[in-house]
Amino acid sequence: MPVCRRKVTVIGAGNVGATAAQRIAEAGVADVYLIDVVPGLPQGKALDLAESAPLQHHDQMIVGTNDYADTTESDVIVVTAGMARQPGQTRDDLLFKNMGIVRDVVTKAVHYSPDAILIIVTNPLDAMVHVALEASGFPRERVIGMAGVLDSARFRSFIAMDLGVSASDVTAFVLGGHGDTMVPLPRFSTVGGIPLPELMKPERIEELVQRTRTGGAEVVALLKSGSAFYAPASSVLHMVDSILNDRKRVLACAVLLSGEYGIDGLVVGVPIVLGAAGVERIIEVALTEAERTALNTSAGSVRSLVEAMEKAPQQAPA
Ligand code: LAC
Repeated sequence: MPVCRRKVTVIGAGNVGATAAQRIAEAGVADVYLIDVVPGLPQGKALDLAESAPLQHHDQMIVGTNDYADTTESDVIVVTAGMARQPGQTRDDLLFKNMGIVRDVVTKAVHYSPDAILIIVTNPLDAMVHVALEASGFPRERVIGMAGVLDSARFRSFIAMDLGVSASDVTAFVLGGHGDTMVPLPRFSTVGGIPLPELMKPERIEELVQRTRTGGAEVVALLKSGSAFYAPASSVLHMVDSILNDRKRVLACAVLLSGEYGIDGLVVGVPIVLGAAGVERIIEVALTEAERTALNTSAGSVRSLVEAMEKAPQQAPA
């Protein structure tokens, strides 16, 4: 496998961070620096991953550290640090705790990598992209939330399982915030190019849409402690690969809108072209009245989190 000496820093050596580090290195996409506040944790996981390199046939470096100086000149920084959801918790319950953590780690990381592209994974996702935009001072093209790739992957998987077809042949399109108000759009979902509504009854589509909306909670309820990490880590790899290899993939990502879809100053999930410059284009499609209402409801729930953060006292990082 070819070696790529570009550098990705993954902040947070928990399940999402460590699995993302594994996927990025094993795909040969970049060297990975895994950083965490807990002494030994990123070093231990990075060493374990590095020791699997001869068996996985890659030559990427995987380094664990507690020191941001080691992350200097990263091309991409993936922020997974923060508390994960527990059963009964919504993503929004994590707001104040994770706001302090994300502000702290982003400030430290961008000091050493002022030209990096930030991928935010910490929940509540859309609100944390706002925090990262402010803490980094980066333009919106370089601060991108990972949510739509995961939500679309879940919708694609459910459609594929239901129809008994390859998930690779299913495309799906999810707009809106990464929350229970997200807006999967069945008419833009296809199976081998065939629009989904041609193949599935409306009631069944609606059940799968609902399962997608609560897809994160379904995994949390089963695990009983912690939340999903395999599919989130795969989603991170997809985004990192599209950026570092300038693939210009069309992916649903959470970005700051300035008038697109009639929304201004809020981070919402929309289809973008993701390449070497980060967000290279936001793709706007005409929505039906019902879809527009659903998107506005979803944007409204992001707005209420942003307003709550603005009113909150500045919290010290945990
Ligand atoms: C999920 C969490 C990570 O959707 O938001 O699984």
